[in-house]
Amino acid sequence: MHVDPAERNFFIIGAALLVVFFVVLTISSVAYGIQLPAPEMRIDPRTINDPEASPFGLPVDERLRELAPGKYEVYMTGQAWAFQPAEIRIPAGSTLTIYATSKDVQHGFKLQGTNLNFMILPGQISKQTGTFDEPGEYTFICHEYCGVAHHVMFGKIIVEE
Ligand code: CUA
Repeated sequence: MHVDPAERNFFIIGAALLVVFFVVLTISSVAYGIQLPAPEMRIDPRTINDPEASPFGLPVDERLRELAPGKYEVYMTGQAWAFQPAEIRIPAGSTLTIYATSKDVQHGFKLQGTNLNFMILPGQISKQTGTFDEPGEYTFICHEYCGVAHHVMFGKIIVEE
């Protein structure tokens, strides 16, 4: 079978690129730990306001907990068009684990300058952990279109000295 040299080169380059992409994906996943966030667990949305059922039902100012010195967790809810809590204060050097779920439709979470990035879905709890060494204000935004005021749905993590 005759294959034109240009066509053969096209196949070779295409196959080589597939190998390159596979290697890059493997390295970023295994060596750098970059992976798609998987749902941590499920939650019945009907119980979301019940403090007996889960920490998501607690008053907003009680959703941030210090588990140990420098180790925090926060139970965050998204709803049209706000995060609760929308302001989180932790000292520099802290590790913060975010648990998040939605009270209504799908929302997203993206923290500027970091790879903290996940979806916030009703019925599902997303979980991600970040370490904050540099003091400053880090804005997080909703990155899933959730209605007319989607663009004003944001909050911040304030890392104090
Ligand atoms: Cu919430 Cu967009």
